[in-house]
Formats: sequence, C-alpha cells, structure tokens
Amino acid sequence: MQIHFHPRAAVLPNRLWQAMLQRLNPSMTLITTNDKIFELQAGETLLDGLERTGHEVEYQCRSGYCGACRVKLRAGKVDYDELPLAFVGPNEVLPCCCRVSGPIEIDCRVRVQERDLFDSDLFENQ
Ligand code: FES
Repeated sequence: MQIHFHPRAAVLPNRLWQAMLQRLNPSMTLITTNDKIFELQAGETLLDGLERTGHEVEYQCRSGYCGACRVKLRAGKVDYDELPLAFVGPNEVLPCCCRVSGPIEIDCRVRVQERDLFDSDLFENQ
C-alpha cells in the first residue's frame, strides 16, 4: 500500500495521523517527515524512500562512509546491519544504510520546486 498525503492540509498533527495509520495496518513501516507520512516499501532503504517521495536529502556514498545523508531522528529507533564508518551523533540516522523496522519520525523536508524561468513568459503581465 502506498500512502502519500500532505498532513499539513489536515487538522490532525503528524503523530496522530501516524498512530491512526499504524492502527489500521500494524505491519506498515511508516516514515513521518516534516511534510509527509509515507510507507517504506519492501527492500527499500530510508534514503530510497525519501527520494521516491520527493524529499530533499543529500548523499554521496550511499553506504555509510561519508555521512552526507545524516538526518535528525525525532522519534522511533533504527538499527544498522554493520556499524557505519561515518559519525552518527545522538538522535541522528544515516538513511542510506540504517534498517527501519518500526515507525519513525525524522527531520526532513520535501524538495522545493523552483520555478523554471525558461518555461514561463517573464513579460506576461506587462
Ligand atoms: S550517503 Fe554516505 S553515509 Fe549515507
């Protein structure tokens, strides 16, 4: 099941949405960010899931060496199959190599689409 919605459009806070969805399907691995709640798909890393859902997340090595993908973990817990070489501070996770087995909440925003100036008529209102 794929869920994409913008929780800010609703009245309920993200954590309440997450609790409701988790109750509907307890086997879902729900990821809550600043802007969305989505389900992590089978075989998908957290970094893959964030990219699929349009989030702004940096990366370089995609295997725990560089630390470029580091994000703040606000709630929940992740594990690592192997301890990453990159420094991971308290309440931080490396989305490229962490293993998510339960609902988590992270500090990550959806990528802002900048207006393509070549695609628009700059003089349309003159
Ligand atoms: S992309 Fe390098 S540690 Fe995640």
